[in-house]
Amino acid sequence: MRMLSKAKYLLLSRYGSTEMRTKCFDSKYRECEWSFSQRDEELLSVLSRMGRRKRALMLGCGQAAIASDLVPAVFDSLTGVDLSVAAVESARQQHPKTGITFEVGNMESWPGEGSYDAIIFSESIYYTPFWKRKQMLRHWKEKLSSDGVFVVTISQPQRYRGILTMIRQGFEVSQDFQSERGQRWFIIFR
Ligand SMILES: C[S@@+](CC[C@H](N)C(=O)[O-])C[C@H]1O[C@@H](n2cnc3c(N)ncnc32)[C@H](O)[C@@H]1O
Repeated sequence: MRMLSKAKYLLLSRYGSTEMRTKCFDSKYRECEWSFSQRDEELLSVLSRMGRRKRALMLGCGQAAIASDLVPAVFDSLTGVDLSVAAVESARQQHPKTGITFEVGNMESWPGEGSYDAIIFSESIYYTPFWKRKQMLRHWKEKLSSDGVFVVTISQPQRYRGILTMIRQGFEVSQDFQSERGQRWFIIFR
């Protein structure tokens, strides 16, 4: 993995087989190129403002740095799913709390367990190939509770403006805003 050029890495991590993508993401975590262990204050604040809810699902959760801040303050329970075994191992170590669980899985095919009041894609939706994104959201929409919502964050909204357009055209958007501190986009919808 270390020898891959940036272009090859981009292709394999987006369009490779599940096994290849897992290897790409695992190497990022194991070689310490990726560490998302800092609290994401912006996302924490957005989720806290939505009010108390029961069940949350974080897809492409990484180390889920804010999981322990969210449970039980905002959610009764939270499940994080990530393709990377290394990320899930780290997340489990960091959040050994009741109500927080992590699974290794692919957000495009992980079956889910019951319904969720919030399904969160924090900087993860753009790793799914563009032709699968809408279908994936439609699949997950069936798992939202009656007032459940998706929360998607995109730190490069210009680069991924197609995702924002797809969401605006295909779903009911309730909040659509740029973070106060920077470029990052938040979109909440169902
Ligand atoms: C940029 S990181 C963001 C991590 C975390 N959500 C955060 O905001 O700190 C993207 C994460 O998505 C995960 N990922 C990418 N494609 C995935 C897929 N198809 N299923 C599950 N996880 C995936 C990667 O392993 C990585 O942990």
